[in-house]
Amino acid sequence: MDKLVIEGGNPLVGRVKVAGAKNATLPLMCATLLTRGRCHLKNVPDLRDVRTMGRLLTMLGARTESRGDELWIDTSAAEGVEAPYDLVKTMRASVLCLGPLVAKAGQARVSLPGGCAIGERPVDQHLKGLAALGAKIELAGGYVLASAKRLKGAEITMDLVTVTGTENLIMAATLAKGRTVLRNAAREPEVVDLARALNAAGARIQGAGTATVIIDGVDELAPLEHTVMPDRIEAGTYMVAAGITRGELTIADAPVEHMTAVIAKLKEAGLRFQPTPKGLVVSARRAPKPVTIITGPYPGFPTDMQAQLMALMALSTGSAVFQETIFENRLMHTSELRRLGANIEVTGSTAVVKGARKLTGAPVMATDLRASACLVLAALAAEGTTEISRVYHLDRGYERIDQKLVAAGASIRRVAEPGPGKA
Ligand code: UD1
Repeated sequence: MDKLVIEGGNPLVGRVKVAGAKNATLPLMCATLLTRGRCHLKNVPDLRDVRTMGRLLTMLGARTESRGDELWIDTSAAEGVEAPYDLVKTMRASVLCLGPLVAKAGQARVSLPGGCAIGERPVDQHLKGLAALGAKIELAGGYVLASAKRLKGAEITMDLVTVTGTENLIMAATLAKGRTVLRNAAREPEVVDLARALNAAGARIQGAGTATVIIDGVDELAPLEHTVMPDRIEAGTYMVAAGITRGELTIADAPVEHMTAVIAKLKEAGLRFQPTPKGLVVSARRAPKPVTIITGPYPGFPTDMQAQLMALMALSTGSAVFQETIFENRLMHTSELRRLGANIEVTGSTAVVKGARKLTGAPVMATDLRASACLVLAALAAEGTTEISRVYHLDRGYERIDQKLVAAGASIRRVAEPGPGKA
């Protein structure tokens, strides 16, 4: 297990390139199970979650091959139908293979993901939707068993907005017989990226990116060929890095068209944005102004950027308010931020952050992916040394973040920590 040792205080100056989006790549990798043949994805980020998904596809009989940021997935012999507990427990997004497996193979046996650090996170909407499409759903031994000879199109209104739930049902419906109308669908850009890839392979999906998605089932799809959209959360994290260190970063490939809510809040906080041919230049000269953040489904403020904004607000000139509406337990970074000197009061799912004049380095622990990013950002601005342990969380979703930040002037060392039992 690695830890990061960060000496804070260097303004970051330089250029960082945003990788392909994790949350677009994972559903696209599962979507290859809807096809039989050699699929080709480009702009694939080099992440632990992507490797884990690759392992799952291999267990299902697919063959994967990667070179640089390109990934080939050959599903010609993908006859497996089981996603085991050991794998699903390390990555909840494995549940995205459920829809494609039932639709294409006629059955799936997928471990229930259970809770995780940020909350309970049930998958009832995925299951309810698949049942509406005609799948027989049984729960046994911690697994979902889903089967159907051929799924049938249906009218489905989801009880709440779920991103992977929407993706699972869109994927399943592409091979169903007849028309599916999915209401209250997630509008995230990653859903649109998936629909675009599927449509290019012969699917008939309309309305992705709106709350109503209409899918006319087809008999088969051609192998996917797609370039993954850039990661809006990684881009947003680098924007905050520029702001919190009062530096100037040129961010190449930031998908600004999908970042309206984040950029609006960062502008309100006083960050400056200048589009240039080399990328978006983001800079700050002064302490940030306080802002109010209420997370919400897209196009609202993404929950995946809440923790990073909180690091920034820990140094604001006033009182900032955060309201987390998506996950019930996603303020765990507050106690670690306090160890660096942040002044935060939490009541239920609301946090009030009174800006401090400075943060001071301390040993802290990463609890989940975005909480880790928040701690890295705070550490970059803190006086002295911060040691962040359990950075494997960070490696799940940020491609070489330490190297990218070091190239812009950050002082970060990655140190191997002895694993449990060896210390
Ligand atoms: C996805 C993203 C994750 C992001 C989240 C919210 C991927 C791989 N992950 O996660 O990074 O933080 O969207 O933007 O894309 N819920 C139910 N029943 C369900 C499904 C969800 O009650 O069947 C609840 C969840 O517990 C949560 C809310 O709905 O409170 C939204 O979750 P959801 O959009 O499903 O998150 P994920 O798709 O898991």
